[in-house]
Amino acid sequence: MIRTSLRLYSSASVQITTIPKFAQRSTIFSLVQPTGKIHLGNYLGAIRNWKDISESSENEQENTFIFGLADLHALTLPNEASVLKRNRYEAIASIIAAGVDPEKCILYHQSSVPEHAELNWVLTCLTSMGLLSRMTTWKSKVFDSDNAAFGSSEQNMKAGLFCYPVLQSADILLYKSTHVPVGDDQSQHLELSRSLASSFNKQFKSDFFPLPTTLLTPTNKVLSLRNPTKKMSKSDLDQNSCIYINESPEVIQKKVRKATTDSIQGKITFDEVNRPGVSNLINIIAGLKRNSIDQTVEELSWITNHKELKDYICELLDTEFRDTRQYFEELTRNTTYLDKVCRLGSEKAREIASKNMREVKRLTGLD
Ligand code: TRP
Repeated sequence: MIRTSLRLYSSASVQITTIPKFAQRSTIFSLVQPTGKIHLGNYLGAIRNWKDISESSENEQENTFIFGLADLHALTLPNEASVLKRNRYEAIASIIAAGVDPEKCILYHQSSVPEHAELNWVLTCLTSMGLLSRMTTWKSKVFDSDNAAFGSSEQNMKAGLFCYPVLQSADILLYKSTHVPVGDDQSQHLELSRSLASSFNKQFKSDFFPLPTTLLTPTNKVLSLRNPTKKMSKSDLDQNSCIYINESPEVIQKKVRKATTDSIQGKITFDEVNRPGVSNLINIIAGLKRNSIDQTVEELSWITNHKELKDYICELLDTEFRDTRQYFEELTRNTTYLDKVCRLGSEKAREIASKNMREVKRLTGLD
């Protein structure tokens, strides 16, 4: 068992440097949006962390690990039905191929447990418009003029996107989750879930919902290889900016070769302002090796030019994803197996969800 090491940000949010030792009967919960294949940012920012966390627990601790796809959240973006369906399969296959073991955790689709939508309504009735309008995620979408899909005006924006964080809170609280591993872009949503948990407890005179702790993933945000001032994103028009975990070594090599660096010669240094490209590559190496940035820079002191740095990262990526690639191909061909995993996961999730929802109904007077 890895020793606990938590760097405290606030009482409710901790950056994990190694996997924490959870108290007995903790519930660790997280979802990702099913955007299809998983890229390096999703992998280092979420999925590998799920794998590490669910492997860290010993049986007698009776911890519950629940991970899955936020497919209801995916409806906040315009998508063809066939695309969403394919994305759900590809995302679940990527998660399993990346090493998340469905025997060690509950793996499921949010939409297959109707209690999410039910609790969402109860919490919507406790959420002020003011609080929601201060959420930075939707603000960044509304005011992103490149994003034609949102109409780039508040008036055109769909209510689903505005209310997105309430559904996220419902996801978390539905299982009375104690810990939620996420990237730091989700911190504000997690604060909302704590605030809604206490509003509910106060209004309905109970201590029913625990206040979930945010576990911030150890790797810093992975940036676009071509424009390292932006996040790595699947929707980037320049696909050379984004590495998928099931790509062939040749494609990965080609993308890494094209990654933006700088004209500074000699040793590599970590400097996000003056050397964003090189710093992004160092951050990826640190993430893959589970090391700190300082440790990584020290270990890379033998490197004297950008080519050596790029060759090194290609080698690491090849080793990390050698088995993932093949396993992903096998899984996507076997949708019967994927359906079975998710059905079993949904059944287990629903057992917990329906019990908790029954209690919510009793506390609110709906039952
Ligand atoms: N909003 C998260 C994201 O975009 C996905 C998500 C939905 C989530 N519900 C959640 C994450 C509950 C953690 C817990 O990545």
